[in-house]
Amino acid sequence: MNYRHAFHAGNFADLQKHTIVLALLKALTAGEAPLSVIDTHAGAGAYDLGGDMARRSGEAAAGIGRLLDLDAVPAVFAPLVAVVKALNGDGGGALYPGSPLLIARSLRKIDRYTACELRPDDFDSLRRTLAPYAFAQAVKDDGYATAAARAGKGGRTFVLIDPPFERSDDYAQIVATTRAVLARDKQAVIAAWMPLKDLETFDAFMRAMETVTNDALAAELRLRPLTDPMKMNGCAMVMVGAPPSTEGAIAEATTWLADNLGEAGAKARIWRA
Ligand SMILES: C[S@@+](CC[C@H](N)C(=O)[O-])C[C@H]1O[C@@H](n2cnc3c(N)ncnc32)[C@H](O)[C@@H]1O
Repeated sequence: MNYRHAFHAGNFADLQKHTIVLALLKALTAGEAPLSVIDTHAGAGAYDLGGDMARRSGEAAAGIGRLLDLDAVPAVFAPLVAVVKALNGDGGGALYPGSPLLIARSLRKIDRYTACELRPDDFDSLRRTLAPYAFAQAVKDDGYATAAARAGKGGRTFVLIDPPFERSDDYAQIVATTRAVLARDKQAVIAAWMPLKDLETFDAFMRAMETVTNDALAAELRLRPLTDPMKMNGCAMVMVGAPPSTEGAIAEATTWLADNLGEAGAKARIWRA
């Protein structure tokens, strides 16, 4: 496991993923029923954008840096920017929240949060990040197996699946985990992140998802035409059970990122399978 999210924290993909996660959480915590969130690949929890890894990649500067430089941040990104500002105060710090901190700050005392991370160093940081939140638990276990085992226990389920795609079977694991989670809670909401390199891989994944659900929503963020499959040409969030009230924010955020951070030929494609 060589992947370190610290190189990528706050990049265009995090902006799309984290904005969508916040919109889903807002809708899913609007009622009185408790929500149980399982974050299969949680990472370190929060990231220092002034650190060596973030500075070497420059990805945050081209992502959250661009957003923070705007005189008027588009309303759809306001919840994410509010957390970034709250973490850093007026001191000019450079902390960027990972999915664990965003989820923990969005939940209520009645909710539950399980965050899975296998890398020992990132797990230690994750555990420290979540320590103030009594309803949150960091576990050093495989995220796919944990989601399949814990979904449907204690309230409605929301599963975030955000693997590093270092393994060739991550796409198949997402489909299998979706099937297992829906078998335990057919109302579960699932959001999976993936890179967009070539269209064939993504199409094959969506066809496989159609064997487990007829309620998939894809938000493709193409930064450039998908002509060179050796490059990460964008990313996609694929959701199951996304509340209809979140579709506007999902489309707005994805379209803004394509239009403003993409190259010639960039586009957003939001569609239901
Ligand atoms: C893309 S990062 C997660 C970023 C995080 N979701 C966020 O948005 O801030 C993926 C993480 O998954 C961890 N990981 C890899 N395989 C895993 C597995 N099978 N179960 C749990 N964690 C895993 C990696 O160590 C890495 O920290």
